[in-house]
Amino acid sequence: MVDTSPSAAPADRLGRPLRDLRISLTDKCNFRCTYCMPRELFGSEHVFLPRTALLSFEELERTVRLFVPLGVRKLRLTGGEPLLRRDITTLVSRLAAIEGIEEIALTSNGSLLTADRARALADAGVSRVTISLDALDDDVFSRMNDVQFPVERVLEGIDNAAAAGLRPVKINTVIRRGVNDDQILPLAAHFRGSAHVVRFIEFMDVGATNGWRLDEVLPSASVIERIHAEWPLEPLDRNYAGEVAQRWRYADGGGEVGVISSVTQPFCGGCTRLRLSADGKLFTCLFGTAGHDLRSRLRSGLDDRALAQWLGDLWRGRSDRYSEQRSEHTVDMPRVEMSYIGG
Ligand SMILES: C[S@@+](CC[C@H](N)C(=O)[O-])C[C@H]1O[C@@H](n2cnc3c(N)ncnc32)[C@H](O)[C@@H]1O
Ligand code: SF4
Repeated sequence: MVDTSPSAAPADRLGRPLRDLRISLTDKCNFRCTYCMPRELFGSEHVFLPRTALLSFEELERTVRLFVPLGVRKLRLTGGEPLLRRDITTLVSRLAAIEGIEEIALTSNGSLLTADRARALADAGVSRVTISLDALDDDVFSRMNDVQFPVERVLEGIDNAAAAGLRPVKINTVIRRGVNDDQILPLAAHFRGSAHVVRFIEFMDVGATNGWRLDEVLPSASVIERIHAEWPLEPLDRNYAGEVAQRWRYADGGGEVGVISSVTQPFCGGCTRLRLSADGKLFTCLFGTAGHDLRSRLRSGLDDRALAQWLGDLWRGRSDRYSEQRSEHTVDMPRVEMSYIGG
């Protein structure tokens, strides 16, 4: 019997426990969001991972089992576009059956979330979904996703998730100043009163190809100011320690919005997250430059005890707070792509 009590779990060098494991299921995507997977990338030598490089369902299940005694309670399946991973529902059922796992969330662009798919995922054990949508206007959305994907179909995906019981849906909106900041009020208006929660995310300097510039970051404080001027807002407490979004509610009872201020107000202090890339590299920080190779250890015949020791040591040795140090130390550091590591 595994010891799943929180006291058995190690803290990192800054005293942070491990709680969330974000698993990227593929580095592929059917969108080409300009802030994440820009089309230009494909003109160069970018090569997607071959199938054999991806962790298998058996390997993922074993990894999650080993992580539970180390503190992991929440899983988030992401990518690339996680719904491109064949048979994802089977994987979800296998992960949901692991003792100690309390929540399985999914982050998706919503394009493949049909009513049947949403129901199957909910039945298999997904408890929450976050769907990314950067605009309500089709022209602006096309400019963001760069594959002419219509807004309407993402809205359908959101409805399908809600109808399957995956409520409330969180909507992730990355704001690039001058590109889609005119969509803040339309998006807020659209989802006010729907019980879904839009979270406006500052454009982050992840990856090496998205042409990030500080002047394209619209600080969350400005997002809140703009919404507040239209519909007064009041701050809300965090739902749980380590929550990355700052929450606000409409004073008139229209629900909630959030902001994720990863650039202007980094939040490393409460970071309980570990990321696993699709090819089995563990990243102790979104801004980590090199992953720790789990896949070769999984495939080298290491037994569970040795593997668990290695995983525990990895977390115990963690001292990353790159987001807070970014301006001082990380300007010239190589950066891993968001589509590879999983947002
Ligand atoms: C990498 S995507 C993967 C899951 C799925 N394809 C999706 O778009 O939701 C996860 C999240 O990261 C966000 N993201 C990607 N690049 C970003 C960037 N440069 N700055 C801020 N957020 C980013 C996306 O908007 C999305 O909400
Ligand atoms: S943000 Fe999501 S949908 Fe957009 S390119 Fe990246 S992985 Fe694909």
